[in-house]
Amino acid sequence: MTIGVFDSGVGGLTVLAALREALPSADLLYLGDTARVPYGSRSEDTVARYATDCARWLLDSGCEQVVIACNTASAYGADRVRQLAGNRPVFGVVRAGAVAAQRLGGKQGIAVLATRGTVASRAYEYVLSDRLPGTPVRQVACPLLAPMIEEGWYDHPAIEAAIDTYLSELDGFTYDRLILGCTHYPLIRERLQRTVGEGVTVIDSSQAIAEMIPEDS
Ligand code: DGL
Repeated sequence: MTIGVFDSGVGGLTVLAALREALPSADLLYLGDTARVPYGSRSEDTVARYATDCARWLLDSGCEQVVIACNTASAYGADRVRQLAGNRPVFGVVRAGAVAAQRLGGKQGIAVLATRGTVASRAYEYVLSDRLPGTPVRQVACPLLAPMIEEGWYDHPAIEAAIDTYLSELDGFTYDRLILGCTHYPLIRERLQRTVGEGVTVIDSSQAIAEMIPEDS
């Protein structure tokens, strides 16, 4: 069984690593659409078109399942990718992040860091209100993070300043879970964890999505 995995760039490699560990015998084919990264600041229609282009390439290359390892593409393009894939299963990271937050449990709110597109789609708000009704959710759009991570600026002063600025938008909001709503962000996870402190659990959806895929894949 070949599983196709795609993202706008290097972010989905965090999902690929989790899939490799959870499903050691699966064949994995990865597509990073680096010619068109970033997806996060583009329109819904453009992202949906890019997502179907990527999925088509993976399906034409023989993949029998598709993992959308990009939150923006999951939020804006999952329906069109599912239509294209027909009876071949399609998994998206947004639902995986919400499942992980639910499984973890908690008493306070949930903060979500994501691209501008994912935040505008309100995909996390919808899926979290469905699974955890009444739990306060605050989203923060972090448009500069994915492009800086693509540049390899994991600990550059510019990304440090951007992280502090974005996280300051959560001042006054009480939360005990922070969803990394962009697959690029696990690459700066330690820095984010240090900023939010030990009382907040940082959730990376890559492991949750790996667990959603049947082991005989
Ligand atoms: N890694 C992607 C996500 O999860 C997109 C980053 C981007 O291309 O803006 O949303």
